[in-house]
Amino acid sequence: MPLFTILTLFPEALDPYLEVGVLGLARRRGLIETRLVDFRDWSRNRHRSVDDRPFGGGPGMVLRPETIVECVEWVDQNYGPHRKLVLCPSGVPFEQKHAAELASDERILLLCGRYEGFDERIFEVLGFEHFSIGDFVLSGGELPALCIVDAVSRLIPGVLGDERSASEDSFQDGDNLDHPHYTRPRVFRGHEVPPILMSGDHKAIDAWRKEQAKTRTNRRQSHVSERPTQTNGDGTAPDSDN
Ligand SMILES: C[S@@+](CC[C@H](N)C(=O)[O-])C[C@H]1O[C@@H](n2cnc3c(N)ncnc32)[C@H](O)[C@@H]1O
Repeated sequence: MPLFTILTLFPEALDPYLEVGVLGLARRRGLIETRLVDFRDWSRNRHRSVDDRPFGGGPGMVLRPETIVECVEWVDQNYGPHRKLVLCPSGVPFEQKHAAELASDERILLLCGRYEGFDERIFEVLGFEHFSIGDFVLSGGELPALCIVDAVSRLIPGVLGDERSASEDSFQDGDNLDHPHYTRPRVFRGHEVPPILMSGDHKAIDAWRKEQAKTRTNRRQSHVSERPTQTNGDGTAPDSDN
């Protein structure tokens, strides 16, 4: 059974999400296992602090290296060696292909940051893969860790009731998106379900869905390609005269 070990300062924030829905059921059925580890327990000082002021000055606090390294080493010794992931905005953008690859791992450790982030020497001492869940900054790595546990778990055999759900999801087949979905009532506030879906003609329905999915995919791709990839640090594009 795949094990997700999440290192966090706020285990109580993760528990409720892991209890419900697909993940809750998967845990109760023994298809995945999750362990929450509060790395504050590895703090060596009497105030149980895990952070300190940054060398070189600047705002905020930085997570000290020894607390986290000793905690990770304890986890590996007690639960077995883990593949190690750290959540950070500067990491590789997490995609469905990463979820698919992680789904075959036996043990995954997810390290959640807080404050300004981590002392870099943690990653010089221990091998970590860095992942971001998007180009924005959150207050902690807990939500990103839950995103990864959720995305990976959906791909573990038996977790979803109908295996087709995952295989037909967006991004399962490269950049391709899912088609639109409709259910009862047939008319909602004057908006009708597309008649083709009521035709009973499964070949035609399949073709319509493929077409709709293609339109969505193209629309999204044109939106993504319109984004500037880099700026000069003052918000201007690299080839701008400003
Ligand atoms: C306030 S953030 C630190 C931001 C850091 N100073 C920076 O600008 O890159 C605190 C923690 O939240 C998590 N975090 C925030 N945004 C994230 C994102 N987009 N993806 C993954 N983790 C994120 C990381 O674990 C990070 O260490």
